[in-house]
Amino acid sequence: MCSIEKILVSIVLINILRLETYLCAKNNSKIIMEDAQEKYKFLITGGYRPKIDTLAKYVVSIRGSKHRWFFGDDHKCGGSIISPKVILTAAHCVCKRHSRIRLKPSDLTVVAGTPRRLVPTETTQVLKVDKIIRHVYYKPLTFRNDIGILLLVKNIYEDGVAVQRISLQTHHLPPYTKCTVLGWGRVFFRGPMPDEILHVDVSIMPDNYCDARTDKYAFGMMCAGDLADPEKDSCSGDSGGPLICNGSVTGIVSFGVKCGIPEHAGYYTNVTSYLEWIRENGFSKLRPVNLILLVILQIFLMKVKLN
Ligand SMILES: *[C@@H]1O[C@H](CO)[C@@H](O)[C@H](O)[C@H]1NC(C)=O
Ligand SMILES: *[C@@H]1O[C@H](CO)[C@@H](O)[C@H](O)[C@H]1NC(C)=O
Ligand SMILES: *[C@@H]1O[C@H](CO)[C@@H](O)[C@H](O)[C@H]1NC(C)=O
Repeated sequence: MCSIEKILVSIVLINILRLETYLCAKNNSKIIMEDAQEKYKFLITGGYRPKIDTLAKYVVSIRGSKHRWFFGDDHKCGGSIISPKVILTAAHCVCKRHSRIRLKPSDLTVVAGTPRRLVPTETTQVLKVDKIIRHVYYKPLTFRNDIGILLLVKNIYEDGVAVQRISLQTHHLPPYTKCTVLGWGRVFFRGPMPDEILHVDVSIMPDNYCDARTDKYAFGMMCAGDLADPEKDSCSGDSGGPLICNGSVTGIVSFGVKCGIPEHAGYYTNVTSYLEWIRENGFSKLRPVNLILLVILQIFLMKVKLN
């Protein structure tokens, strides 16, 4: 029998649960409830938090357009600020699950200046997305060309402390170069996502090492890990975030084989391989005025010809 009282009691219980989750999230900076389904494969495991975080200012949290119960519970991916209007991320972060179909700009928001995922501060900026671009040859099954760009409606305000753009890596870096990956990904496989951003130091691994560990390895990818401590890795929720080497964004967190298991590494999109693509799709798309001028000029020239 399904009486009205039972339904009412259920509603009350559900709301108590929600309230509890909300309070815990506010109080406990670590444990956050999550969808049971694994959305993305990457996460930071075995990470640390530096006393003074000089890298978090480059990183944004890419989220849904409306949080479900509390600020930040819809965190999807990381991204890097590469210009006040351009966010660099992974293609799989801006497409529907396992597909090449892009999300709508209104499906996503970008949150900058917030090392704490769940707590907005006075430096937090919430930004709307104008346009979503992913590589035309992005392959969801093999993670080929896993690179995407979000163009924002308004400029991010860069204060240089909590929010700042990062340069793109233009140098070839030798294997075993030390880098740092950071994000809000799960702290262990299928584990919770942290509130405060985590760092992991990893080294770029040689090509043959990356190639030997997955049949997906292809042009435009790189891998990084820590041979001595395989626990250091990135995991779900870190996707799209930066691998920072020598002060520049060098990799985009792309995929992994579970997280932090021995003899494996995290796979990244090699930013240096896509410099041209980033310039074309990020920076040059930012001048619509020039395009309009060009069209006017064309029309003008045509008229001159006709006359
Ligand atoms: C919040 O944390 C404090 C101290 O860690 C604890 O005493 C309190 O019960 C917590 N509140 C909730 C709602 O969990
Ligand atoms: C690291 O960056 C500095 C300054 O941008 C540059 O001069 C140097 O060549 C870079 N090192 C490597 C190994 O690329
Ligand atoms: C990344 O790509 C650049 C340019 O294609 C290349 O020089 C560099 O060796 C690559 N890095 C890695 C770690 O494979």
